Amino acid sequence: MGYYIVQGGKKIEGDFAVRGSKNAALPILAACLLAEDEVVLENCPLIQDVFLTIEILRELGCTVTLSEESRSLIIDSRNLSETTICSETVQRMRSSILFLGALLGREKKAVLGHPGGCCIGKRPIDLHLCAFEKMGVVIREKDGILDCEVPHILGYHLYLDFPSVGATENILLLAAKAEGVTVIHNAAREPEVVALARFLRACGAEIYGEGTSNIMIEGVTHLHGAYFSIPADRIEGGTFLCAAALTKGELRTKGLEREQMEAVLSAMEQTGCRFLWEKGDTLWMRPPKILRSGFSITTGPFPYFPTDMQPLMMSLLTLANGTCMMSETVFEARFSQADGLCRMGADICVSGQTATIRGVEKLHGAEVYGKDLRCGAALLVAALAAEGESRIHGSAFVERGYEKIEDAFSLLGGNVRLEA
Ligand code: UD1
Repeated sequence: MGYYIVQGGKKIEGDFAVRGSKNAALPILAACLLAEDEVVLENCPLIQDVFLTIEILRELGCTVTLSEESRSLIIDSRNLSETTICSETVQRMRSSILFLGALLGREKKAVLGHPGGCCIGKRPIDLHLCAFEKMGVVIREKDGILDCEVPHILGYHLYLDFPSVGATENILLLAAKAEGVTVIHNAAREPEVVALARFLRACGAEIYGEGTSNIMIEGVTHLHGAYFSIPADRIEGGTFLCAAALTKGELRTKGLEREQMEAVLSAMEQTGCRFLWEKGDTLWMRPPKILRSGFSITTGPFPYFPTDMQPLMMSLLTLANGTCMMSETVFEARFSQADGLCRMGADICVSGQTATIRGVEKLHGAEVYGKDLRCGAALLVAALAAEGESRIHGSAFVERGYEKIEDAFSLLGGNVRLEA
């Protein structure tokens, strides 16, 4: 696996156009299977998870045309010929579980392995499977392979024990083609769920209430093609804002949506960063001379502080004056960045689901290991502010969700190189 070399101490500043959202693009790509003719997607992020999802679509018989220059994709699923996805592909990317709902909705059968993904704790799919069974899906599981069939997709009133993003999305995909009405109580309210619902609606689905805890779906028999633009990635945006704030640079981002950023901006405001929204989706950030701490952060489902931003926020707090308590409530093992940050001179103590970050005056370069996507990004951000050179291993994880992050940081004044 490759690594990044970072010469720290340079400001990240200037203008940054946020790319399309990974977590919105992946379920929408799976949903393309339900549309029985051509879909055009604009503003697709050119990241490894998108490339892998395109591979899955092609394996299933879809024609996919990617234009990297315009970041657009044309997906034609008229020649869909397969309902099996090989386990190796599925294990490389957890979001491939969404192909279960999409394939069952389209072909009434699907065979795939248990999903993999980042190592951030146990990531069961019981909520997905339990909902599917209630909707008439017959699930056989042998040697880690899920073999599913659904003679009739039945609408159902479902209650999720936890507002799981993936389970809500998978149910949306299946329910779009169900006989009758499905209601998801305690549904995830994440903006990426909203994006998927809007895409499905553009294809002819009947969906109401996305963005609230109760979503109603009235099944239809056919979905058609559509044109859709992937919304900006709130986590990529937050990553670059943290990098700028930590290196004391001013940053202007373009594309972010205000309502999606509230929890992150309010936490960053407590460190002394100032924000101004200009012309709708342009956000200007000015960092303080000295970052402040002395508050606590708890991650939670939207609209609470996003778990995906927790590692990045931890990097920011390493240099903030005071102590911050961070509690992770969404995933059970998500402080793997703390190790690398401590090697760079940070003072972090992890105990179970809580981390205590005591601000230090400076960080120094080190050789560290990014063990998952956001962990790698958090270490990169810290390395940008550290004195001297850092080497961050595990670039393949970062490339899953960030498009050429080394170039993007370098264009904003950083000194980052990828050694493949
Ligand atoms: C999605 C995002 C991920 C983000 C997460 C939470 C994508 C591709 N990934 O992941 O970046 O960190 O939402 O915002 O969109 N759970 C169960 N049983 C289930 C499903 C989930 O117990 O059947 C638990 C998980 O173990 C986890 C929690 O619920 O502890 C949240 O998971 P979920 O919201 O489903 O996250 P993902 O969809 O996997």
